[in-house]
Amino acid sequence: MRQVAPQTWWVTGAADGIGRAVARRLALQGHRVHISSRSRTSLERLAAEFPGQVQVWPVDVADRVAVLGLFATDPLAPRALDGILLSAGICEYIDLPDLDSDSVARVTSVNFLGVVHACEAALPLLRSAGAAGGRRPQIVGIGSMSSYVGFPRAEGYGASKAAMAYFLDALRCDIGHEIDVTTVFPGFVSTRLTAANDFPMPFQWTVEQAADYIVARLGRGRRRLAFPWQLHCLLTLARWLPGLWYGSLMPRLARRAVKSAP
Ligand SMILES: NC(=O)c1ccc[n+]([C@@H]2O[C@H](COP(=O)([O-])OP(=O)(O)OC[C@H]3O[C@@H](n4cnc5c(N)ncnc54)[C@H](OP(=O)(O)O)[C@@H]3O)[C@@H](O)[C@H]2O)c1
Repeated sequence: MRQVAPQTWWVTGAADGIGRAVARRLALQGHRVHISSRSRTSLERLAAEFPGQVQVWPVDVADRVAVLGLFATDPLAPRALDGILLSAGICEYIDLPDLDSDSVARVTSVNFLGVVHACEAALPLLRSAGAAGGRRPQIVGIGSMSSYVGFPRAEGYGASKAAMAYFLDALRCDIGHEIDVTTVFPGFVSTRLTAANDFPMPFQWTVEQAADYIVARLGRGRRRLAFPWQLHCLLTLARWLPGLWYGSLMPRLARRAVKSAP
C-alpha cells in the first residue's frame, strides 16, 4: 500500500461490505477513521482491531437530524475531516405489477438522501481540513453501474443511485475548486447486499478487490471510478445504443411478473 501522511476519514456503511473493507484499509494505512452504520456491535468489532484509532458513530443516514447532530458535542468528534467515504446503502427490488412507492422511498432515503445528509454534516469539517493546508479534502460516494441504464426491478435502487451520482456531479461544480468529489461505480461485488440476488452477476469482484481498487485511487482527484472494466464497457455501450439495450437485450433478461390468481 502507498505510504501517505495520516489523515482523518469518516466512512458510512462501515459495519459491512465495501465500507467496512475500505475503513479497515484506511486504518491499516495509519489513518484515523470514524465509522458509521446503524449497528453499533459490528462497528465496535472493527474499532476493537484499532484501539484509539477507529471511533464508532452509529447513525441512520436517512435521519437528517441525527446525522447533523452526530459530531455536534462529543469531545471525541472530529474537528476536521480529510475525507469521507459514503458507502451506506440498501437494495430493494420492485416486483411489478405492484409498483411499491414505499420501497422506492426507503431506498431513496438511504442511498440518495443519506449521501446528501452526510455531505451536509461533513462539509464544514472538510473545509476546516482544507483551510489547515496540506492535501485537498475528498468526498467519495459509492454509486452503482445500475445507474448507467435502466435495469428490470431497479426502479427504486437504480434511480436512487442515479440521483446520488447527479448530486455529486452538481456538488463538484460548486465545490470542486476546494474539495475533490469522486463517484465510484461498482459492478457486482460479493457482499451481504448481493447475497440475495438470484440472477447472474457477471464479472463479480470480491469485497477485498473492490476495497483495494478504491483505496489505491484515493487522493488522485478522480471524478469517477468504475470497476470491473468489462462491465463498465458493456454498460457504456448499452447507454450509447439504447435501441439495442431496451429493444433486444432487456426484454430477454426482464423477469416476467407472474401473479397467482386470488
Ligand atoms: N455489492 C455490490 O455489488 C454493489 C454494487 C454497486 C454498488 N454498491 C453500493 O455499495 C455500497 C455498499 O454496499 P455493500 O455491497 O457493501 O452492502 P452491505 O454489505 O450490505 O453494506 C451496507 C452498509 O450500509 C449500512 N447501512 C445500510 N442502511 C443504512 C442506514 N440507513 N444508515 C446507515 N448505514 C446503513 C449497513 O450497516 P447497518 O445495516 O448496520 O446500518 C452496512 O454497513 C452501497 O451503497 C451499495 O448500493 C454495491
